[in-house]
This record gives sequence, structure tokens and C-alpha cells, in this order.
Amino acid sequence: MNKTFSLLPEAASNLATQIDDLMTAEMLFSVFFTALIFVTVFVFAMKYRRRSAEDRPPHIHGSLLLELAWSLIPFAMILGFFVWGANIYFRAYATPQPDAMEIFVTGKQWMWKVQHPEGQREINELHLPLGRQVKFTMISEDVIHSFFIPAFRLKKDVIPGRYTSYYVTPTKLGDYHLFCAEYCGTQHSGMIGTVHVMQPTEYAKWAGGGDESMTARGEALFNQYGCSTCHLPDGKGRGPSLVGVYGSTVKLQGGKTLKADDAYIRESVLNPRSKIVDTYAAIMPTFQGQISEEGLLQIIAYVKSLEKEEGEQQ
Ligand code: CUA
Repeated sequence: MNKTFSLLPEAASNLATQIDDLMTAEMLFSVFFTALIFVTVFVFAMKYRRRSAEDRPPHIHGSLLLELAWSLIPFAMILGFFVWGANIYFRAYATPQPDAMEIFVTGKQWMWKVQHPEGQREINELHLPLGRQVKFTMISEDVIHSFFIPAFRLKKDVIPGRYTSYYVTPTKLGDYHLFCAEYCGTQHSGMIGTVHVMQPTEYAKWAGGGDESMTARGEALFNQYGCSTCHLPDGKGRGPSLVGVYGSTVKLQGGKTLKADDAYIRESVLNPRSKIVDTYAAIMPTFQGQISEEGLLQIIAYVKSLEKEEGEQQ
């Protein structure tokens, strides 16, 4: 690439230019005030220097107006940066669009494993369509990693035992670096990959090449581990029916309620007795250590699909 020198990596996502603008504004702000302070210190030191041994400065009373001004004006300016930054933050962490696609990332010493809902799986590679919002759902199989795509200005810790997510829209075709940005062991520096942003039609062709969708894989696990013998769809099993459970409000023993999301389903598989659904007995065994993080994501995808096709799954 014959590219002139640039301080910043390529800007290939909807957030990239917004974050760059904020960074540039903060830098100019800091440089301006640093210069102002240094110049003022220097000028005052010259102007008010002691001119003779008998020099006695006049007594000065403070100025309330001046003190309020130099406290409140910078406060308002910094608050402006806070609002600006918070606005971008919410866009990256909590603004799903209706057509958002989900990508599932599992970090592991020392590789990135990616699952696409249609079934494609890849390692240290990530294919994405241009112009469509992506929700990354990420988890680690071992230690803390950090999923970092500089061209997207995306950097988010990938943590064992907890899903983290991030929303971003690729806005430029091309290949970009993918890094692990959290020291995670001897091969940390080798935990890298490539992101390919493709035309949507090409992506659809590529994504359709997987052999089995995540939902289908999840259903196979659901049967393999015997979940289907208790969680009968008609609700007459020893465990509650999972049809329509995803996204719904679940009533627990003791009267507490919660919204069934990815984290709840994962916990219910690994630590089923921590939250018992009302009117059911605490008889489900744990599946801790038996199902991989990728498998858990597939089971969640399956449970989610029971929500979507409610009625016809029966
Ligand atoms: Cu994974 Cu550093």
C-alpha cells in the first residue's frame, strides 16, 4: 500500500472517525492549555520578578469572580468532553440496530475462535459484510484476553465466565489487523489475525458455506447431553419448557424474577442450582467442564431459536 505516514490506523468503522475526532479535540485542548500555562508561568516570572533587595509586593485580596471563572469554565469544558465521550460509548455498547448480525468470539490461549450464526467457523480470521452492524458476543475459555481491531477502534476485554459485547458497523472494504491486547501468556504476541470486510453478497456466499448452523449444532448438543429428556417443549417435563423462554421474564423460587438472556442460560447449564425456576425442583446436574464455551454459545443459539419459531417447534 502506498500510503503516506499516518498517526492513526485506517478508519474502517462507523465509530472510527467519531473516536478520532474526540481524540483530536482532546489532544488540541490539552496542547492549548499546556502551552497557555507554560507561557503564562514564563511571562509572569519575568514581569513580576524581584527587582531589588528592598522590593516588597503590594498586599492583594483575592478575586471571587476570577476564582469562580477559572474553576467553572474548565469544569464545563471537561464536562463537554464527558458528554461527547459518553455518547460514543453508548453507541458502541448498547445500541443494537434491528438488522444487527451476531458474531461469537471465543478467546483461548492463544487463538481467536469465531462462530457465525449460519455455521461458518474460523480461527484467527474474521469475515464481515460491509455496512451491516455487528454485535460481538465474546467470552474466554481460560484467562483474560482483549479483542482489538484498531481499524474499527474496537477494543474490549474477553473474560472467562462472562459474556462481553460490542456493536460496530464496518464501513470500508479491506483486510485489517486483529490483535489480543491483554498480556495472556507466552504466546500473547502471536494471538493475532486478520479481519476481512467483504461485499454483502460475497459474505452471504461465504457464510452459507458452513455445514451446520449454530442452532443445529446447539440442538444436537441439547439432545446429546440429555437436556431434551427433561426440558419437554410442552412444559410437562421435570424441567421447565424452554420454548419462548429467551428474552422472557422468568419467575424464580422465592419470588424473584429475571430476564432470560445469554448469561442466564449459560449459568443455568453450568450452575443450575443457583437459580431455580419457580415450581420446579433443584434436580438438574451441572454440566461444568463438559461443554466448551463454543458449545454453550451453540446451545444458547438453539434456545434463542425456540423463541423465534414459537408454535411451530412443538
Ligand atoms: Cu490473548 Cu493476549
